[in-house]
Amino acid sequence: MNSYRTPEIVIAPDAIAVQMIAAEHILTLAQACVAATGRFVVALAGGSTPQGLYRRLAQAPFLSQMPWERTWAVWGDERYVPHTDPASNYRMAREALLDYVPIPEQQVAPISVSAGDLAVDAAHYARQVETLLAAGSGRFDLVLLGIGSDGHTASLFPDNPALDAPEDILAIAVEAAPKPPPQRISLTAAALNRSNQAMFLATGSDKAAAVQAILRGPFDPCQFPAQLIQPSNGALTWVLDAAAARLLDESVGE
Ligand code: 6PG
Repeated sequence: MNSYRTPEIVIAPDAIAVQMIAAEHILTLAQACVAATGRFVVALAGGSTPQGLYRRLAQAPFLSQMPWERTWAVWGDERYVPHTDPASNYRMAREALLDYVPIPEQQVAPISVSAGDLAVDAAHYARQVETLLAAGSGRFDLVLLGIGSDGHTASLFPDNPALDAPEDILAIAVEAAPKPPPQRISLTAAALNRSNQAMFLATGSDKAAAVQAILRGPFDPCQFPAQLIQPSNGALTWVLDAAAARLLDESVGE
């Protein structure tokens, strides 16, 4: 990979509109995937941006229209804290979405943090993800991602050794993350690229410089790891609000 391909860019007026656009896109995709393959396998994003989207998916009309019984959920990354910790991405997704939708419990695969050893839990998750993907097409149907103002995505941070994970490694331990907490487990870029659709969500003016650098700047994935996410044979979409897109030359579309 030596350049950044031009993704689909959708610019909405504000964060609420971003949530609606993303929810509608996810509903359409999920229904199509289940009709075609009987499954919808999604990697959930952490952080705060997707919370509003998750809450919307747990409400009408999405609550009744999403094929929850045929949905499998994994996490793109997790902070290495107990699942009861307010910083846990698992806890966030439970409280915003999973506690309110009928996804069968055995189809929800949180990243374990119980071994007390990052590498052990990362290797365990890699096996879990491989098993889940192997039971279907070998790929995620959707990977949801956010970005940090430093250009990171999932827990793939600039200049971090996790960026150099071999192609056959699906999940990796991350030490010294600049965004606390410092210890994390992340799907690797190779894993995240095993997707039929990757969708980035970014809102707020604090993301504008990173959005511009990632989408319009030089290809420099060590500094902007989000540029590593270019699904092989998959779609790449960025859904932005006007504030996050303010340094791009596109106008608000939705
Ligand atoms: C995490 C996330 C991380 C997040 C970005 C954006 O665990 O922190 O996976 O990659 O998506 O940092 O975070 P916000 O949505 O809170 O701005």
